Amino acid sequence: MAAGRALLSSQNGLAAVAPLSSIGYRARGLASSLPLLRRRCPSAFVSSSARCCSRPHSEGAGERVMKPEKEEAFVLTTPLYYVNAPPHMGSAYTTIAADAIARFQRLLGKKVIFITGTDEHGEKIAAAAEASGRSPREHCDTISQSYRILWREVKFITIVVLIKEQVLYDASLSYGSNYLDIAYDKFIRTTDSKHEAIVKEFYSRVLNNGDIYRADYEGLYCVNCEEYKDEKELLENNCCPMHLKPCVRRKEDNYFFALSKYQKTLEDYLTSNPDFVKPLFRLNEVQGWIKSGLRDFSISRSSVEWGIPVPNDDKQTIYVWFDALLGYVSALLEEGEQTNLEQAVCSGWPASLHLIGKDILRFHAVYWPAMLLSAGLSVPNMVFGHGFLTKDGMKMGKSLGNTLEPKDLVQRFGADAVRYFFLREVEFGNDGDYSEDRFINIVNAHLANTIGNLLNRTLGLLKKNCQSMLAFDSIVSAEGNSFKDSVDQLVEKAKYHYENLSLSSACESVLDIANAGNLYMDERAPWSLFKQGGASSEMAAKASFETGYFHLCIQLDLVMILEVMRIIATALSPITPSLCSRIYSQLGFSKEQFEAATWDDTKWGGLKAGQIMAEPKPVFARIENIDDGNEVVQNKNKDKKKASRRQGLVEA
Ligand code: MSP
Repeated sequence: MAAGRALLSSQNGLAAVAPLSSIGYRARGLASSLPLLRRRCPSAFVSSSARCCSRPHSEGAGERVMKPEKEEAFVLTTPLYYVNAPPHMGSAYTTIAADAIARFQRLLGKKVIFITGTDEHGEKIAAAAEASGRSPREHCDTISQSYRILWREVKFITIVVLIKEQVLYDASLSYGSNYLDIAYDKFIRTTDSKHEAIVKEFYSRVLNNGDIYRADYEGLYCVNCEEYKDEKELLENNCCPMHLKPCVRRKEDNYFFALSKYQKTLEDYLTSNPDFVKPLFRLNEVQGWIKSGLRDFSISRSSVEWGIPVPNDDKQTIYVWFDALLGYVSALLEEGEQTNLEQAVCSGWPASLHLIGKDILRFHAVYWPAMLLSAGLSVPNMVFGHGFLTKDGMKMGKSLGNTLEPKDLVQRFGADAVRYFFLREVEFGNDGDYSEDRFINIVNAHLANTIGNLLNRTLGLLKKNCQSMLAFDSIVSAEGNSFKDSVDQLVEKAKYHYENLSLSSACESVLDIANAGNLYMDERAPWSLFKQGGASSEMAAKASFETGYFHLCIQLDLVMILEVMRIIATALSPITPSLCSRIYSQLGFSKEQFEAATWDDTKWGGLKAGQIMAEPKPVFARIENIDDGNEVVQNKNKDKKKASRRQGLVEA
């Protein structure tokens, strides 16, 4: 465990725990499960053989290759967010990134199970509920709902959170269509009864495997981290370096998980599966922790009532982390299905990717795999630890109170701008600082100018000169034109970056397509061609004078650019779904056609002769700063300046 001050008594934990009733099967011991500890095993239960259907595997002599009954899903998770306070931009960040990855995988044609949810038990939540004057249940219902509302449109909801009679959060005032466009598939709450059943069954499996014992513990506890801390990591006055609040000394009689038993297994696993932790520098960090020695950690609390009772000992509740991590498994259960581990595992375990912030890496890359091994379950394929959004260099967070309100940002600038800025600006894996000026500059330059303006002026020309109708298939207009090859290459680059979770680079590659489109337009200058009545020779070859020479010449270039816009709208749709849907609509496609698009649609050739474009309308309105250029007014009236920065209905 994290703390180094465990005073483990010699009580024999197993003797102290009443035996559990039969759970039907017993998890394999460490030694026997080791050879099967790999990705995509035939069964996600490493100890069972024919029970599960989910993961086929073709390697390994003598192993049964099971036919998958269901299509193998890409299972992606965000952390389950604490409901001590409503979401802030830091929590929104992981979710936006997860949504972009989920959307990309769907574009590739994968069945995706995108899991998110809320972590609702423990001391920190109970204290927040008390401060709001509500029961823990009511408090959790309210805050959990505020996450759902921010993620996805929920209509006709009124939520008011009061803390000490002050309105802390009022969703009814601020939310209409102000959500981040998160297309999650499962939202799990750790207070769901199905989750509780899974946690208890899991606990019993670990117990039966001999990995839980009872002991006394004394250490320094950070309530905000919900973690015992090693004194060496603390600042002056035993302050937690993350939350800058003093840790409290605790002494408890708890149940412990025998993490130390898994030291060698984890070490070996990381050596042979270096992709388990990403980015690479975080793998090194995890390997360092393991090498420095793993200590058993306490998985129950005698002092916390708001939690899942320990099976056969209702004086203790299960430690919030031991409980919450299992949300990734319980979330897989379908409505109306049997509530047991086997069923949950068959519905998609192991997860393909856990996306988390770097502060909770130890829980996901050390504790979690050991817990899973103990219960005889497969470990997830990958844990990606991203960096922090910071303000003045400090992690933005609820406990420090230096947060940025995502609902305000979305309300002022729209979901596309927020999603694009954070995914483009912060290299995924590293920290990134927020600045409003930078936000406005980037979003205006990339989305309004480079993309929005290119589309708008092209459609304007097509309308003016060709009644908004395409005369060529885009594949015909690109014949012998190397511009198409450059676009193809950039599309490949974007795909490579998405696949490697380099979301910022993926945005950059798509933007490069738009940059190339602008350059092409400027070089070819079809408007001047029209005015001058001249044409280049290859255009002349393609178009005949009798059939409207000038219109056809201009068409060739405009079709090229509109095809580029169609490709951009497909390739950028994981990042800015709503903007891309508007681009599709401008190109004369229906909402259904946009929703049915796949990554194959990034191939050149989608636009056909006869397609009629919509009436040109800006797809992304510039953010106007009324006070631009007036330093004095900006400094004097910061609030006024903020209020005046809105997305104006100004043509991009
Ligand atoms: N409840 C646990 C997770 C349990 S998962 C089974 C928890 N919750 S949290 O609400 O405190 O944090 C959730 C996620 O938000 C973490 O991945 C954390 O890193 C992330 N962020 C919180 N503040 C952040 C920033 N300022 N920047 C980026 N992400 C940060 O931990």
